[in-house]
Amino acid sequence: MNIQEIIAKKRDKLELTKDEIEYFIKEYTSGNITDYQAAALVMAIYINEMNDREITDLTLAMANSGDVLDLSELGEVVDKHSTGGVGDKITLVLMPIIASLGIPVAKMSGRGLGFTGGTIDKLESIPGYNTSITIEEFIENVKKINISLMGQTLNLAPADKKLYALRDTISCTESIPLIASSIMSKKIAAGANKIVIDVTCGSGAFMKTEEDAKSLAKVMTSIGKLAGKETVCIITPMDEPVGYAVGNTLEVIEAVDILKNKYIPKDVKNIIEELGANMLVLAKKVQTIEEGKKLIIENIKNGKAYEKFKELVQNQGGDISYIENTDKFEKAKYIVPIKAGKKGIISKIDAYKVGKLSCYLGAGRQTKEDSINPRVGFVFNKKVGETVEAEEIVGYIHADDMQKANEVLENNIVEIG
Ligand code: URA
Repeated sequence: MNIQEIIAKKRDKLELTKDEIEYFIKEYTSGNITDYQAAALVMAIYINEMNDREITDLTLAMANSGDVLDLSELGEVVDKHSTGGVGDKITLVLMPIIASLGIPVAKMSGRGLGFTGGTIDKLESIPGYNTSITIEEFIENVKKINISLMGQTLNLAPADKKLYALRDTISCTESIPLIASSIMSKKIAAGANKIVIDVTCGSGAFMKTEEDAKSLAKVMTSIGKLAGKETVCIITPMDEPVGYAVGNTLEVIEAVDILKNKYIPKDVKNIIEELGANMLVLAKKVQTIEEGKKLIIENIKNGKAYEKFKELVQNQGGDISYIENTDKFEKAKYIVPIKAGKKGIISKIDAYKVGKLSCYLGAGRQTKEDSINPRVGFVFNKKVGETVEAEEIVGYIHADDMQKANEVLENNIVEIG
């Protein structure tokens, strides 16, 4: 077998065998296939696509390219994943709720890259919170308090790390076979036996249209089935940021406020109900989605999810006084109001634009090595569809650099119809 023949087959729209796919992943991960050969094959896959069998073989080969966790000693672990978005603090809110309902939560999360945020960066904005624990500590934490959220410190799906970086440099990110195998390989390697995936759809997501989001969901569900991991995909909107806050500390504060039952943005409520209820059905905690939705909201209202979040933070070395009193979080130097400018109805708060501007303020990184500023971002007062007066403040920019804040302000962030 050789890589030239494999590239030629995919170039000519032929189906690759399991052996050919495994050969490619093994030899590319170990450095025996060059980046330019891998780039040629990836581009051929991007253009000519793969069938479900090929995508499943690719996923499993990628999952087996590094460590594969076995979490069976923890019982029925149901994992949750989002395909990425802006203002997406769903994991911070939902996972303590699930753990407070007696379902073990053992979740590895990622950092933000590009315009999207990542749960690990958000958690690290809580002073002391340690995301780089050992796998033994991770499992012990789940046994002790039923929840642990950590970064991907293990060598999980190294083939995906190499391929993802390569795809980024050759404009092959937005491909359904490549996204599906990338996500599912990491989920399979992370050890859960049931998976709920939030397939985001809209300007601030990889999938811009409902049709593409549905195709991605269908492929991931089918990979899960063929790999023996029950998988449910839920399509959620990502045209405007999720909730009101965007930025690391700002999103932690919003998540804590929600868990304290101070308020719950409608979109956050819909997403946690949908994802959470499906997780509870998969875990056999409830029989119907309706029953599940009730339990999710009940455990916010009765304070159990908030207590579980505090336990999580404390158990991983975080200072819970910041959770009890979020005013303690260090603020950005400048908090600059965004005014509506005219009377009307908000027609757009573009998630992609907000994500990019938030990165520009320092909340995200362009390369994995960049450091981030936890304090900066946006807090909106309004959502799309709400009415505003001309002079009304529709949100605030949180910035450490006034010149950047002024530049950001020049963008038409909140569009009035
Ligand atoms: N998230 C991933 O992990 N991989 C992709 O390819 C896209 C989103």
